[in-house]
Amino acid sequence: MDMTSGMNLTTQPRHYRLAVVPGDGIGPEVTDCALAVLDAAEGLFGFTTGREHVAAGAKHYLATGELFSPGIATRLRGNDAILFGSMGDPSVAPGILERGFILAMRQAFQQAVNLRPVRLYPGVKTPIAGLTPDRCDLVIVRENTEGAYVGRGSTVHAGTPHAVAIQESVNTRVGVERVVDYAFRLAASRRGKLTLCHKTNILVEAGKMWQDTVNELSARYPDVETDYVHVDAMCFHLPTAPERFDVVVTDNLFGDIITDLGAVIQGGLGVAASANINLDGSAPSMFEAIHGSAPDIAGKGYANPAGAILSLAMCLAHLGEAEAARSIESAVVVVLGTMGGLSGPAMGGSTAQIGAHVAAALADVAAGRSAQLEGMSVMAGMQAASVA
Ligand code: IPM
Ligand code: MG
Repeated sequence: MDMTSGMNLTTQPRHYRLAVVPGDGIGPEVTDCALAVLDAAEGLFGFTTGREHVAAGAKHYLATGELFSPGIATRLRGNDAILFGSMGDPSVAPGILERGFILAMRQAFQQAVNLRPVRLYPGVKTPIAGLTPDRCDLVIVRENTEGAYVGRGSTVHAGTPHAVAIQESVNTRVGVERVVDYAFRLAASRRGKLTLCHKTNILVEAGKMWQDTVNELSARYPDVETDYVHVDAMCFHLPTAPERFDVVVTDNLFGDIITDLGAVIQGGLGVAASANINLDGSAPSMFEAIHGSAPDIAGKGYANPAGAILSLAMCLAHLGEAEAARSIESAVVVVLGTMGGLSGPAMGGSTAQIGAHVAAALADVAAGRSAQLEGMSVMAGMQAASVA
């Protein structure tokens, strides 16, 4: 497989090696559902996968002390992509697993782009009164390796009334340019509109680098219209006028915050998916639902597997299995439309049952008994944007 183009040669057997990291809380439950859908997809679309399960997360850390160790990194690197559940548990102090595994992986594997679609699917209930699917179809491109997430800083006079905490945010031209360029390519394949989201009036140094980069790169993409919105204004526009946006590019921390808001608008964290994309093929990309480990509902069958299954679809799109990816998205939408609610007992079935419904719906879509979802799919956009 050619990782940089995301294309297959149809004459080659289509086989992909997947690392599976179920993690903590509801992670294993939703990952199992995604794998059940993957089983169905393999039979229907004629590709195969090998799956290497990698133990990591709270239990593994407490037993072994291991986080994103060189050993785990090597095992993950031996695969074409990583399916990730979720990580975090009350038994481990906040931040240890998040920084020690998730952020360490995003940085070590240069997963430069965190791609987070915000699409209100037909039949899905949104808390935003009056919002309709035709008005809500955008993609947020979050920088994924820099900004405040580099985790650098210091505290002087710690523990005294004179304590000084310094927290750094790092923005490199290379880091900014590669995500802005990706966002331009994605926008060019969609409605041709790119919005930079930042806080250039306050974070003047970083803001200037981001705005200059957008301005300079826009010369290469004459068909893409550019726009700018401050991050606080984004929190107003996103729920009230999402139709204003096609592709939004933003820094790591702003992206973390506005993508949770985006998830709410599209029906909740249970349905939101993401791709952590390595752009140069130097390491595997990673695919995870946006939700966390939700330890309070773990083991109850209350978790919505849609986000994890849609993340699997993004993984397949990345690997070049565009038809399977689109069909899985369509199948998820069929099932979401039949659910009474988007989480908990209101879903009308357990996590595993919802997964089985999606697998069955996938067979219907593949056989043409059920229609493909209409409109632009981020699955197609990912393929267009991955070709530099
Ligand atoms: C996310 C999460 C992570 C982040 C945490 C778990 C480290 O909130 O993927 O958005 O802050 O990036
Ligand atoms: Mg987050």
